[in-house]
Amino acid sequence: MIIYFTGTGNSRYCAKILAEQLQDELVNSFHFIRESIAAELVSEKPWVFVAPTYGWQLPHVFADFIRESRFSGSQDAWFVMTCGSEIGNADRSNKALCKEAGLRYRGTLEAVMPENYIALFNAPEEDEARKIIAAARPGLERGAGCIREGRDFPGIQTGVVNRLKSSIVNKLFYRVCIKAKPFTVSNACISCGKCEAACPLGNIQIQNGKPFWGDHCTHCMACICGCPVSAIEYGRASKGKPRYQCPE
Ligand SMILES: Cc1cc2nc3c(=O)[nH]c(=O)nc-3n(C[C@H](O)[C@H](O)[C@H](O)COP(=O)(O)O)c2cc1C
Repeated sequence: MIIYFTGTGNSRYCAKILAEQLQDELVNSFHFIRESIAAELVSEKPWVFVAPTYGWQLPHVFADFIRESRFSGSQDAWFVMTCGSEIGNADRSNKALCKEAGLRYRGTLEAVMPENYIALFNAPEEDEARKIIAAARPGLERGAGCIREGRDFPGIQTGVVNRLKSSIVNKLFYRVCIKAKPFTVSNACISCGKCEAACPLGNIQIQNGKPFWGDHCTHCMACICGCPVSAIEYGRASKGKPRYQCPE
């Protein structure tokens, strides 16, 4: 079973490719995470978890979902992490996560996809994004081959810098960077409610026709990148930047 989490569609796209290649079922974790439901899933086929990289690790909300859910049938778990450039030493924390969840860790595959983190960086323009997406496909197909044949994903070389990024820097990143307060909405807002519906944490409420953000944000960028009229900004950081949604 292929289980994914996504903010802007990259991980859904990669999960779909894996599901096609492996002729396996595709499950979106959105509903479980949003409603705080511990999943009870059964599959004789291996578990494949697909998610973006947040601060050189799986998004904490997705790791918590895996930790709190029950997976019966197959015990084998492969991870595919989409990223803008690199996943650091996520391999180590995914291995530890499997131990906690009673799963057998079979490795983590890095899939470089377009950057979506417009609260800190720039997302590519559409043409560039399409090239990056096309370049990711062969690696995903090779990854599917490993899973089909029951082989571990090849190990990733990780030095001390990557270990620091995925541990101490990840903790600092969550503490310092991940907050909803800087989100604002302009008068261009058409009160469509797409931001509220897209938030995987149910952190946005429409009040008097405008979105209001609570404190429970994971910076997935679904609200700001999914706004059909680009009425949402993240302080000044997002001003003038292209919004990103996986076009596939
Ligand atoms: C909060 C946040 C943190 C991120 N951290 C990293 C990172 O550590 N390394 C990296 O290469 N990309 C990072 N990115 C980029 C995303 O992992 C990448 O664009 C991913 O494919 C987005 O997936 P999605 O469209 O499924 O949400 C980050 C993006 C966000 C929103």
